Amino acid sequence: MRRTEDEIRPPCTLVIFGASGDLAHRLLAPALAHLNRDGALSPDFAIVGIGRTEYSDEAFRERLEDGAKAFTPPTQGRPGDMPEAVRYLRGSFEDRELYRRLKATLEDTENRREGPPNRIFYFATPPDADETIIEALVETGLARVENGWVRAVVEKPFGHDLASGRHLNEVLLRAFREKQIYRIDHYLGKETVQNIFVLRFANGIFEPLWNHRYIDHVQISVAESVGIGHRASFYEKAGVVRDMFQNHIMQLLTLTTMEPPAAYESDAIRAEKVKVLESIRPFPTKEIDDWAVRGQYGPGVVNGKRVPGYREEPNIDPQSTTPTYAALKIAIDNWRWAGVPFYLRSGKRLAKRVTEVAIEFKGVPHRFFHKASGELLPNVLRLHIQPDEGVSLKFGVKVPGSVLQIQSVYMDFPYAKLGAPIAGGYERLLLDVTHGDQTLFIRGDEAEHAWEVLTPVLEAWESVPPPDFPNYAAGTFGPETADKFLEKDQRRWRTL
Ligand code: BG6
Repeated sequence: MRRTEDEIRPPCTLVIFGASGDLAHRLLAPALAHLNRDGALSPDFAIVGIGRTEYSDEAFRERLEDGAKAFTPPTQGRPGDMPEAVRYLRGSFEDRELYRRLKATLEDTENRREGPPNRIFYFATPPDADETIIEALVETGLARVENGWVRAVVEKPFGHDLASGRHLNEVLLRAFREKQIYRIDHYLGKETVQNIFVLRFANGIFEPLWNHRYIDHVQISVAESVGIGHRASFYEKAGVVRDMFQNHIMQLLTLTTMEPPAAYESDAIRAEKVKVLESIRPFPTKEIDDWAVRGQYGPGVVNGKRVPGYREEPNIDPQSTTPTYAALKIAIDNWRWAGVPFYLRSGKRLAKRVTEVAIEFKGVPHRFFHKASGELLPNVLRLHIQPDEGVSLKFGVKVPGSVLQIQSVYMDFPYAKLGAPIAGGYERLLLDVTHGDQTLFIRGDEAEHAWEVLTPVLEAWESVPPPDFPNYAAGTFGPETADKFLEKDQRRWRTL
């Protein structure tokens, strides 16, 4: 059946709460400009920004356009203009008057176009503000429309722990049905993260090997060279587990380990991801050190530049115990993964920015190349998520010559070979919201299960202060304790 113009480019109004903030400027503005340039948005697409800072409609448009220009990488070409209709409302989220003005603005925008009164409410706000806004939307009747749809986009963090994560879901469900809620994790918008799914399920050769019979262990690394920037107040309370593991790393893990869904359909896929999360063995709080290592960076040199330690960053408590690095060992107690450890690590101010999933296969059952020089190393399939997107497979070959010498080589597929520029995740995710496709968004139960997995680590760490912080220098690959952690299992972290 041919899709109608309204289905391809649905007319709608995007209401951004927290529009004067960093996220709208740095991430939403470029994504909207690219989508508009590429003709992916309806000519009737409208934006209503809401924030505390004073802007006129025109000044807000300029701010979005400046953001689009400043944060469009050169590979993406020129960013394009903002949609025609851009409005801005200044106000405090507690003030009911703001919602009366919003109602009038929405009705005015909707009356100017022919199509249905579709609305996207985008919460680029902290979770405590989300609750206030949602209550007001319900009270003022803005969360419902006749003959159109309403969708809510929620940014992480999805709460602060299991209890607040559940509470946030309850609040959201008071106003919206799960089908209307889009919990955004920008990692799911990354091409190479989506490629994990395609690599596994669009090829016949990997899946037969993708289990405990052939895989020794898996390492998932999200190394960042940046520090905490201007986000001290957020980061002090969050730390690396809430900031990176609850969302991005859990997504990388579930995509790597889920069973094949029956269909490429959002609920089928998300149900499989939930099943994996349910199979993760709970961390034993008493022996947490066998399963988790934490770190905090001290001063050091990153990319040739001296940088301060975490405790010396502006607005950080000089005695802070917030972890900026964590390494976790995960056991998945199910048929496919019994006995296969998953080592996950992430940290700020590491030597370089690399995100990858490395699958290390078991060695050969009978080793008879005793006389060969060179080491017989295991096969490793590396999924390079960023910055050098691609896939590589390591295997051993004979070095030409009369003596038997074995050497590891790499079969490499750099994504750049495909020629198409890799767009930032937000374009894809915003477009999916307009189309009502939830496949790349986190379902409520998924977010809660991720909290359930990580809560014992958070509790154990928060109850016993770290004795050795700061325990790694900026510009290294994390604390020594993290190396020892793998050595205990006779393994080593892969060089990034
Ligand atoms: C964000 C975290 O969600 O992801 C940041 O809050 C982190 O702390 C960022 O730096 C990493 O994203 P990317 O796309 O640069 O890997």
